[in-house]
Order: sequence, then C-alpha cells, then structure tokens
Amino acid sequence: MRVSVDPMSVEPGPSEPGPGSGGGVAAPDGRVPAPVHTPGEESARGRVEGPGRAGSGVLRPHAEDAFAAELAALAAQDDRSRPARWRLSPWAVATYLLGGTLPDGTVITPKYVGPRRIVEVAVTTLATDRALLLLGVPGTAKTWVSEHLAAAVSGDSTLVVQGTAGTPEEAIRYGWNYAQLLAHGPSPDALVPGPVMRAMREGAVARVEELTRIPADVQDTLITILSEKTLPIPELGQEVLAVRGFNLIATANDRDRGVNELSSALRRRFNTVVLPLPESAEAEVDIVSRRVEQIGRSLDLPALPDGIDEIRRVVTVFRELRSGVTADGRTKLKSPSGTLSTAEAISVVTGGLALAAHFGDGVLRAGDIAAGILGAVVREPATDRVIWQEYLEAVVRERDGWTDFYRACREVSA
Ligand SMILES: Nc1ncnc2c1ncn2[C@@H]1O[C@H](COP(=O)(O)OP(=O)(O)OP(=O)(O)O)[C@@H](O)[C@H]1O
Ligand SMILES: [Mg+2]
Repeated sequence: MRVSVDPMSVEPGPSEPGPGSGGGVAAPDGRVPAPVHTPGEESARGRVEGPGRAGSGVLRPHAEDAFAAELAALAAQDDRSRPARWRLSPWAVATYLLGGTLPDGTVITPKYVGPRRIVEVAVTTLATDRALLLLGVPGTAKTWVSEHLAAAVSGDSTLVVQGTAGTPEEAIRYGWNYAQLLAHGPSPDALVPGPVMRAMREGAVARVEELTRIPADVQDTLITILSEKTLPIPELGQEVLAVRGFNLIATANDRDRGVNELSSALRRRFNTVVLPLPESAEAEVDIVSRRVEQIGRSLDLPALPDGIDEIRRVVTVFRELRSGVTADGRTKLKSPSGTLSTAEAISVVTGGLALAAHFGDGVLRAGDIAAGILGAVVREPATDRVIWQEYLEAVVRERDGWTDFYRACREVSA
C-alpha cells in the first residue's frame, strides 16, 4: 500500500540545494541563492530573506521582489475570486503582466507588450488542469513571461528546472542527500526534493526552461506529474500528491524544434501559447526602451535623454534584416544567420548606453551602437559579413539622416 505524504510533513532538510545548485537545476541565468543561511532569515517558503534579497546590491532581483510593491497593491485591491492558493485573481495576474491603473491610482507597469488575449489564455490555462507551454522564436519573452506569471500567481518564481541535454530525471523529481542516505538509509530526511516536487507540495507554479532540450525519456517524467498530479517515491513507498494551486509552465524554443520533440503524450498535457515577435516597430521600440531603462537603472547608468532615436535605428535595422525587406517594402534583403531578436536589440542598446556613459559624452550616438549591431548581425563571418555590407551600401547609405550611422558602421566594419 502506498502512503501519501502530507504535503507539509516532509520539510526540506538543511542540506537541500536551492534552485541553481547541482543536477542541472538552476535559475535561468544560473543564479544561485545566497549561501548565507542564518536561522530566523527564512520565510515561510524556506527562502533566504534579509540583506541582499530584494533590493540592496542584488544584480537582478526575482520578479516577485523587483515588483513587490505592484503585487501588493494588486492583491490589496483585487476583489475578484482567486483559484486555490493563488495570490491574485486571474484578472489581476493579467493586469500585472499587461499593466494598467488601479482604482486608487497605483500604476502597474506593463511587463509584457503584446496581444492581451495571449496573456489571458496563458493565465487561464494555469487555473485549469493543463500545464502551460510557451513557445516561440528566441527572445520573444518566454522566460520573462514565465517568471512573471509564477511571481504573480504563487509569489515565487524560483521553482525552476533549467532544461539542458544533460538534465537528469532527479532534477525534475528528487535526489538524495548521500551522506544521510548512506548513514540511515532512504528516509524523508535524506530526500532532496526538486523544484517541481516542492511546487507540488506548496501548491505553487513550477517552471521548466527549454523543455525540448531535455532528453525525451527525462521529459516523460512529467507525464505522471501532469496527468496524475502525483510524484511517486518508490524508495519510501510513498508519493507526493500535488496540492491545489500546483501547475507548471514550460518554455521551448522554436529553433530547437527537432532536437527533442515533445512526445504526443506529453504535448497533450500542455496548452501551447505561441509568443509572437513584436507586431510593429513602435511596439518593439517601446519594449526595448522600457527594458533598457530598467537594466540601465540596475547598472547605475545615467538616463539618456535622446536615446530614443538610436533605439529606433537599432529596431529598424533588426526588423529589416529579420524580415528580409526594408520598412518601406521596396528593397528585398538577405537575412543573416543570427536571430536579431528583441532581446538582442535590448543588449545592443544597453551596451551602447554603457559606452556612451563611460567613454562618450553621455549621449547615445550612432558610434555607440554600431559595434553592437555588427556583433549581433555578423554571427557567421563568411556569409553574414557580405549580407551586412550589402545592407550598408544599398540601404543605410541612401537613407536620409543616417549618414552618421553609415560612417560609424563603416568604421567598425573595416
Ligand atoms: N513582447 C515583449 N514584451 C516585453 N518584453 C519583451 C518582449 N519581447 C522581448 N522582451 C524582452 O526580451 C528579453 C528576453 O526575453 P526572454 O529571455 O524571456 O526570451 P526567450 O523567449 O526566453 O528567449 P530564448 O528562447 O532565447 O530563451 C526580456 O528582457 C524581455 O523583457
Ligand atoms: Mg528563455
């Protein structure tokens, strides 16, 4: 007979690795929780609080910390019904992602810029018994949306499995503290739950990044979890039953298609939401300027008054090369091998901003972004360099008001 483990009865032991340590389990960018583990600093979720958690000195706080004030304001004014263990109602989660103004005047900044319906479908899916799969080309904010959804729904975006070709089954299920295991044999104390198991116990949202990079047999571990909502622990003759509120968000890259296709059994457990590239140049400029401003603030870069013209330029170049035609539709272009995503545009502008701040006159100029653009466009030197030269000569050179940019690009391309 199998004994169900009370969700609260098996507490993670002190040696439990957090997301980011060991076994392919890591936050998307490899962040590791602070090693300090002082008693009294633990929140109810077992995460380390205190200096360094939310604001001071942290390079990139988690979404739930960075936007704690917005989440609190939403929770306080949200009178719609909330699914079990959700911090907010689905409406409030969508507002958190898309932005808006609350009745008391609190402004919620938009996190995701894109079709409202996409966000509504994604949020609603999390309130059903199907998991959510965010699919799209690189840089379409899949990871970003997944983090913010988890933060808004469960107040915790850190229950992440980072998918790689080497992700083992233990990263999804559980591992063992071998010292304990050897000394005392298998016991709840020796068990090291993975992020998905913890989410099941807490009724929270777990995240799996880059699902299609995970080997197919390891992916299939998720089938029982998603269909039966249980995770058996045969060594203990027990199982962990998912508490209401548990769900899973996976992300997968369009370009990885064919690496490890999702099995149809697993695909059926997911509702797929495709995140599109920004529809218009204006929308993309908006996304880039918002993110650059946020990132610039966290890097203590000075705010740039006139950066918007250069941002428009980066976005125009990226969109034209990506789509293979100029914005006016007149000239056909060859597309380089790189993805030239919004995310890369954000990096190019942030890099330019740093150049302008440290080595320029504090104004973002063509010369500050030229090298970054070249680096993003020319990924495979043999082919991309020719494509870039053609674009420079045929399009950039002729364009009114782009002489400074043309010169700057010629200088770095030489
Ligand atoms: N539509 C959008 N709205 C808001 N931010 C966006 C949008 N598209 C891209 N971004 C920004 O792009 C950056 C990169 O996004 P993210 O890393 O989530 O992409 P991804 O789809 O996970 O890419 P990959 O497939 O490479 O993992 C984020 O900083 C995000 O803010
Ligand atoms: Mg991603």
